[in-house]
Amino acid sequence: MIVGIIGSGAMGSGIAQVIATAGHKVHLLDNNTQALERAAKSIKDTLRKMASKGRISENEAADILDRLNFTENNQEFGNCDLLLEAVVEDLQVKQQLFKELELMVTEDCILATNTSSLSIASIAAACEKPERCIGIHFFNPAPLMPLVEIIPAVQTREGLAEEIKQMVQSWGKVPVITKDTPGFIVNRVARPYYGEAIRMYEEGIADPATIDWAMTELGGFKMGPFTLMDFIGHDVNYRVTESVFASFFFDPRYKPSFTQKRLFEAGYFGRKSGRGFFNYQEGAVPPEP
Ligand code: NAI
Repeated sequence: MIVGIIGSGAMGSGIAQVIATAGHKVHLLDNNTQALERAAKSIKDTLRKMASKGRISENEAADILDRLNFTENNQEFGNCDLLLEAVVEDLQVKQQLFKELELMVTEDCILATNTSSLSIASIAAACEKPERCIGIHFFNPAPLMPLVEIIPAVQTREGLAEEIKQMVQSWGKVPVITKDTPGFIVNRVARPYYGEAIRMYEEGIADPATIDWAMTELGGFKMGPFTLMDFIGHDVNYRVTESVFASFFFDPRYKPSFTQKRLFEAGYFGRKSGRGFFNYQEGAVPPEP
């Protein structure tokens, strides 16, 4: 199988690594040269680290890298069996992309989106053959997180979700088929986790470091809500909240916060930009609870 991935950011690069590790040829495309260089470096560093720890052999690491083609050129997409997009969480951008991708591929190529929250039906509606479209939603970081949500749209052809389920299993992941509703399973359940934490902070009940400390040390969560939002990126996380809120006809349970909106507007995206709720710049001292 040959796979094309569009967007080489946090998700696209991780997914490319997963699929190349499973033995498939992957074309990883980005329209930003620096993003592509960052992805190539990050995957190489990860594979080198895994080899040095003995989790894979040097040969395996080299083979995985050989199967990865980092490119700004979509000419290879005509040979792909599956294209999976992981670009910005914006419906119009994704619809336009699907429209363009469909012109480059064969009749049988599957078009998938890694969207966290947008309706698969509305992305698929941009295509001439929407029955080939489906959501394949990985979690961050894709090489480590086992769960993958598979989301057929109303237009998706019968049986495609099952085929993707087997495919995802063969990549070493644990799939769950879910309905095309805002946020699917995990991002819907997670909205109140983020939202309530920000509300508590806004009400002066506790600061982010204290809330995170309570949730990890005492609550058993792997990451506190603020660390997790900084990790995901406020550009992504804020947009997902906005989209889920709007998609549920502005149900106040999912209302976004001005605090996070300001971080998003300021470009304080979290880890990736060096600043979010916490400061990740060099020399920064993490706050104590
Ligand atoms: P990111 O900002 O790290 O990466 C997006 C990449 O797409 C950038 O490198 C950008 O240059 C590239 N790009 C944008 N438009 C493009 C185009 N037209 N053609 C080619 N490349 C283009 O974003 P991230 O975090 O990887 O998210 C991507 C998608 O995955 C979003 O839909 C997001 O909701 C979803 N997602 C994000 C998760 C997260 O924790 N960050 C988790 C699961 C899904």
